[in-house]
Amino acid sequence: MSRRNTLTILSLGVFGLFAAFLYSKMATQVATKTTAIVIGSGLAGLSAASELISHKIPVVMLERAAKPGGNSIKASSGINGAPTKYQPEKDDAFYTDSIRSAGKAMGEMTKHREDLISTLVNSSASAISWLTETHGIDLSRVAQLGGHSVPRTHRPSSKLPPGFAIVSNLLKSLQSSPLFELQTSCTVTELLKSGSRVTGVSYLASSGNPGTLHGPVIVAGGGFGGDTTGLLAKYRPDLANYPSTNEEQPGVQPLLTTIGAHLIDMPLIQVHPTGFIDPASPSAPVKFLAAEMLRGEGGILLLPTGERFVNELETREHITKAIESQGSTSETPKQWNIQIVLDEDTYQAAKSHVDFYMSKGLIRKSVISALGDNALSSIQEYAKAVEKKDPSLDEFHRPSFGHWSLTEPTLESTVYVGTVTPVIHFTMGGVVTNTDAQVLDEQQKPIEGVWAAGEVAGGVHGGNRLGGSSLLECVVFGRRAGETCAAYLQSQQK
Ligand SMILES: Cc1cc2nc3c(=O)[nH]c(=O)nc-3n(C[C@H](O)[C@H](O)[C@H](O)COP(=O)(O)OP(=O)(O)OC[C@H]3O[C@@H](n4cnc5c(N)ncnc54)[C@H](O)[C@@H]3O)c2cc1C
Ligand SMILES: *[C@@H]1O[C@H](CO)[C@@H](O)[C@H](O)[C@H]1NC(C)=O
Repeated sequence: MSRRNTLTILSLGVFGLFAAFLYSKMATQVATKTTAIVIGSGLAGLSAASELISHKIPVVMLERAAKPGGNSIKASSGINGAPTKYQPEKDDAFYTDSIRSAGKAMGEMTKHREDLISTLVNSSASAISWLTETHGIDLSRVAQLGGHSVPRTHRPSSKLPPGFAIVSNLLKSLQSSPLFELQTSCTVTELLKSGSRVTGVSYLASSGNPGTLHGPVIVAGGGFGGDTTGLLAKYRPDLANYPSTNEEQPGVQPLLTTIGAHLIDMPLIQVHPTGFIDPASPSAPVKFLAAEMLRGEGGILLLPTGERFVNELETREHITKAIESQGSTSETPKQWNIQIVLDEDTYQAAKSHVDFYMSKGLIRKSVISALGDNALSSIQEYAKAVEKKDPSLDEFHRPSFGHWSLTEPTLESTVYVGTVTPVIHFTMGGVVTNTDAQVLDEQQKPIEGVWAAGEVAGGVHGGNRLGGSSLLECVVFGRRAGETCAAYLQSQQK
């Protein structure tokens, strides 16, 4: 409001204030005339939409699947943040841990990546307080995952998985706003442009009818880990037929490259060594993740013939390579039948997880004689190192043995066993964005009217994503996309 307006109001006293109040009401109503479009209902889309709604901007969210939540709703370990009041110790190493994990990819576009990483890290404490305080989500339990030098991965203290807890809460609060509209079973097929500016989308609705919507667009369509025959085959032909933990669907990146977006790190794919092969549908392309925790608590890995072959606590990459160096048991999908084996005490330590896997038929109670001809002798060998608590006695130098206590194994000893294989898990690459989540073109210039956040964007993780940092990137950059998009719309109203 101009100085002159202010003076006028002062001179009009109470009536003037009332007029100013009406004026401000009118202004917000004008600002609500244009709608923002959000593609995808995972955590990045939900974070962006929440931010837009808090700025009183109406949002239409378009989701390809019949149910909202994307891969975000399946997240099982948690979300990173530092420093937070839930962490048991002081933490100033998140930035250095992230740079280390990104690895040699940092050598290229160094400054750009450093800016993204420091934005991610600097905004992480406020991301956690936004979820816990603004939205009342319980994230009070903190764990230390691989690659982190201190505990900083937050999840609920109840059994509720973090992805579900966060997604269902944000979705519920959005759905209580009259400014929010969600259309499921609706696939965006094209971004519309006017000159160099993005002005809306074309979509195909569940009815089969095409349609268009106009407004600025936030693309939160996720990664391409479920696009095994498309983008994965293109950038990593060696991984073409691998199963995935991601829902099967084409990547959304081509929508953006068509309008001039630049891509980064597309061949950098995180393969997780242990996805469950379900005996009821062994060739299903989408697998349940066999959580890292199963090995951490004491689980071991055996070949189909019963031999151990790797230190089960090595990095994801190392274990995956050790599995891949064995002959595969199926080509489509590309699979290895590796056994993950828990003794009774390991089972007890991981009981809540394992009971869930058992209810799904992914782990069964069995005996050592069923694990292959060489299982008894290799478990006996392993038990010697466990009994003496001496990693140097273990052929593979496993540094700790978790809760494994079976030191006198026989053919009849009880074990809990599942079959696992390496699975595509996360795509580090994607569209190049800046710290405001604006989509950049080949010249590193923002393309007007379009933002991208979450796994669809690339560069922030470099060669290796730290566990817990992808939910974080969804919140941090999703919120930034929402904020800058709100400012963009408001500036257009003036
Ligand atoms: C089993 C599993 C466990 C995980 N655990 C963790 C964890 O503990 N911590 C962590 O940080 N990360 C974890 N991750 C990774 C993390 O969940 C994902 O990286 C993150 O959820 C991606 O969120 P997003 O919002 O970018 O995309 P998503 O949540 O995948 O959502 C994208 C949505 O966009 C929709 N969409 C795509 N294209 C279109 C289109 N053209 N039109 C309309 N809609 C479209 C999709 O249907 C989807 O619903 C896990 C991943 C998996 C698979
Ligand atoms: C993040 O915080 C550090 C330490 O305060 C600061 O040096 C850095 O510039 C910040 N980065 C960004 C992108 O704000």
